[in-house]
Amino acid sequence: MIATNHEEALKDPIFSTISDAAKELSVDSYVIGGFVRDYLLKRGIPKDIDIVAIGSGIELAKLVAKKLPGSSEVSVFKNFGTAMIKFKEIEIEFVGARKESYHRDSRKPVVEDGSLEDDQKRRDFTINALAISLNSRDYGQLLDPFDGIGDLKRQLIKTPLDPDLTYSDDPLRMMRAIRFATQLNFIIHPESLQAISDNKERIKIISNERIVDELHKILASKKPSLGFSLLHQTGLLSFIMPELVALEGIEEIEGQRHKDNFWHTLEVVDNIAENTENVWLRWAALLHDIGKAPTKKFDKKIGWTFHAHEFIGAKMVYKLFKRLRLPLNDKMKFVQKMVLMSSRPIVLSEDFVTDSAVRRLIFDAGDHVEDLMTLCEADITTKNPKKQKRYKNNFKIVRQKIEEVEERDHVRNFQPPVSGEEIMKTFDLKPSKEIGIIKEAIKEAILEGEIPNEYEAAYALMLKKGKEMGLVSQ
Ligand code: CTP
Repeated sequence: MIATNHEEALKDPIFSTISDAAKELSVDSYVIGGFVRDYLLKRGIPKDIDIVAIGSGIELAKLVAKKLPGSSEVSVFKNFGTAMIKFKEIEIEFVGARKESYHRDSRKPVVEDGSLEDDQKRRDFTINALAISLNSRDYGQLLDPFDGIGDLKRQLIKTPLDPDLTYSDDPLRMMRAIRFATQLNFIIHPESLQAISDNKERIKIISNERIVDELHKILASKKPSLGFSLLHQTGLLSFIMPELVALEGIEEIEGQRHKDNFWHTLEVVDNIAENTENVWLRWAALLHDIGKAPTKKFDKKIGWTFHAHEFIGAKMVYKLFKRLRLPLNDKMKFVQKMVLMSSRPIVLSEDFVTDSAVRRLIFDAGDHVEDLMTLCEADITTKNPKKQKRYKNNFKIVRQKIEEVEERDHVRNFQPPVSGEEIMKTFDLKPSKEIGIIKEAIKEAILEGEIPNEYEAAYALMLKKGKEMGLVSQ
């Protein structure tokens, strides 16, 4: 249901302040874009407000800031003819209406002033070109020359002008179309979809930061596969993440087939989206199989293999993050770790689950063991209900075991019960490789369950091991 009381959208006193300021400057002003769209769709109170002035947006921003005690300084972007103020966590952006294309990030200065309609038709989508008047003569009136309301009702992403023109004005809009379709569960108009396919190469001129912003939003949606299949269908994905596209396809040799790892991956991402809001864990789901394309081999005896794909995949994560300018920090390391370990619980669940295997899993995954289990559960995409049940049940057993073992042995964030310093003191050693050998022996014995994770037992093992190595305790 679309909201119909447009004046209601303006109940925040910010709007009457903007309206007063605009009146004082004798310019018309309108609230436009995402704020109006999200209000009409009842998507909750939008965070940011876009204001278009028929005149100088910068002057309007300055006067509004004066009238809003507690607002931030005005940030002016002269080249773009825009200005921004922050007020109670809300970003209010002001722009003068323009005739020329809406070039948000273009380096070209904005030239010609225009009417409201000039400005609206240069925006990306009809649903983003809706404006509500802030002028006293028609305060609260909706201005919708391109039937944005109709498209909201039809759930349609459509450009106000010929899509070729809209997308060449700013090729990022191709990704925005797909992102909005995914977030809102809307359909992209067929002509628009065609225009995206036709213009896909133009995505090359867009910075990776802006592309990644859209990818994050697609991944954060309820059903990210909608976006990734559109990115794939239009050919954009080949420019952005060819590693993923390389997973598509099923090969058959001697009657043996492997699954299509691209479509499988999208299912995994949708599955995980039901269980976590953590966008980095969703990234891990998206990338968990990328090592499978370069490692795929056919072996006459065992069939298709993807030997060490987790290891290769983890290396590819680094390269991909670097190329796309995703952060190369602990987030990247987390994704790498998830990819690297993505098969571990599966191997575990297929076998009899021993305590020592569980201890090793907890030791290696550390604080991320829960996330790893969430990833592995999402990885179950078999359509065979019996198998599905069996796998899920096995993972339940692994989860239980993790809890039991952790409660007893505390190997998550393992701290050696005997420190290096104590080993040095006991055997009167200087820093040397012997210390590492003893520490490793203690850790191994704990993980294997030969000794409990306790000081006394570890101390005794240290003495024994030292003796074997010919060391003399003091
Ligand atoms: N816009 C555009 N072309 C772009 C980016 C933005 O025409 N490439 C216009 C649209 O009218 C859009 C408005 O600028 O509604 C504000 O842009 P932005 O804040 O990026 O997006 P929102 O539509 O507000 O949506 P969201 O906050 O979900 O990104």
